[in-house]
Amino acid sequence: MKKPWGGRFEQATDDLMIRFSQSVSFDRRLYAYDIQGSIAHCKTLQKAKLVTSAESKKIIGGLQAILKEIESGKFVFKEELEDVHMNIEKRLIEKIGPAGGKLHTGRSRNDQVALDLRLYMRDEITHIERALKRLGRTLIGQAKKHVNTIIPGYTHLQRAQPVSLAHHLLAYVEMFARDRARLQDVLKRVNVMPLGSAALAGSGYPLDRHYTARLLKFPAITHNSMDAVSDRDHVVEFLATASLLMAHLSRLCEELILWASSEWKLVELSDAFTTGSSIMPQKKNPDAAELVRGKTGRVYGHLMNLLTLLKGQPLAYNKDMQEDKEPLFDAVDTVQTALDVFDGMMKSAQFTAPSIATLEASGFLTATEIADYLVLKGMPFRDAHEVTGKAVAYCLKHKKGLNDLSLDEYKTFSPKFKKDIFDYVSIAGAVDRKNVYGGTARNQVREQLKRVTKEWK
Ligand code: ARG
Repeated sequence: MKKPWGGRFEQATDDLMIRFSQSVSFDRRLYAYDIQGSIAHCKTLQKAKLVTSAESKKIIGGLQAILKEIESGKFVFKEELEDVHMNIEKRLIEKIGPAGGKLHTGRSRNDQVALDLRLYMRDEITHIERALKRLGRTLIGQAKKHVNTIIPGYTHLQRAQPVSLAHHLLAYVEMFARDRARLQDVLKRVNVMPLGSAALAGSGYPLDRHYTARLLKFPAITHNSMDAVSDRDHVVEFLATASLLMAHLSRLCEELILWASSEWKLVELSDAFTTGSSIMPQKKNPDAAELVRGKTGRVYGHLMNLLTLLKGQPLAYNKDMQEDKEPLFDAVDTVQTALDVFDGMMKSAQFTAPSIATLEASGFLTATEIADYLVLKGMPFRDAHEVTGKAVAYCLKHKKGLNDLSLDEYKTFSPKFKKDIFDYVSIAGAVDRKNVYGGTARNQVREQLKRVTKEWK
């Protein structure tokens, strides 16, 4: 088959080379953006009087017909035509004749693909943000139900202090809020129009680039043609943002997996988002959470891939750039499904509060309260820490909880202990005394719930 760039070639491309250099097997995903960009380019050519209005009509009609062919599955993509851009252009010429050959005036595939990618990313970032918003709302919904569910909070995976489950879930809402802000920020740099840069030096025709930008709803145009065709910063930024988002999802998945175990029994995941074992009839496996955790690695890999792809390339466009697409596409798909699946799993999860007795009986969750109590009675914190440590050691030795000690027993550690110590060792009291802004006291958590409900509306 004659290549659109075949003029200076005498020999045919080797079959192996055709298969190696083609990108149409994956970049066909960009077809709608390619056509959208071509229509805007055609109108810009017409404005510059490089095509007549009759030709422009023909070209645009042809492109729209091709869009329909692709969408109805009739269009045949050919690997010999390398990529989505040349497949569509070739078909256009086939359909409308020589006028079709005018479309590529003042344009190169280099600025064309840069444009397509930006149009694609703009859409996908919007979809991902929408899915993230849904997930945030789901988490807020669960948090609302569990302000009064008190769970052990951990550091070093050792029981540390009691917290409201809502407070724990809202910690993730904070992470996801930053992820959202990062996505919106990346979008600003994606939303810049590169067409008119041509191969690298800028178009030799008087193209009104601002007009093209307006047609495609870009708020800005690129300032440097060489940068415009070789910049993939925004892809890296997106992958970095996606990586952090996956990291946050993955941490919560890890917690859900632990919480769903018989050791924790804090959450029951619904049948709809769990699977069974082919050998052990009793099993209910948290596969959805495990897979989201597992897929996080793919997205990190894509980020590293893109960074490495860029580091050695001299300006401007190099064919290496073609390798930007598969990692980007896979990251988009992975993040999108991870968000959707996670949302389903989270929405249907049933949390059960551990009993106060269980909380009191294990882990000395209120030990810090006792130290704080002694501080309020005038003891320096370091001494209070030491005294409380002794009380904990005593409890361990006598297999007691801090709540089981009598006032007389407390008094053996310090004369400062009075009857009101028992308010301090209560679990709910411990939670509600963390009454600083951002603390886990339930009235603080309720305030935060009000704030995030508004922000995630
Ligand atoms: N398929 C190519 C890519 O994805 C399009 C640009 C090709 N440009 C070129 N000069 N060969 O990067």
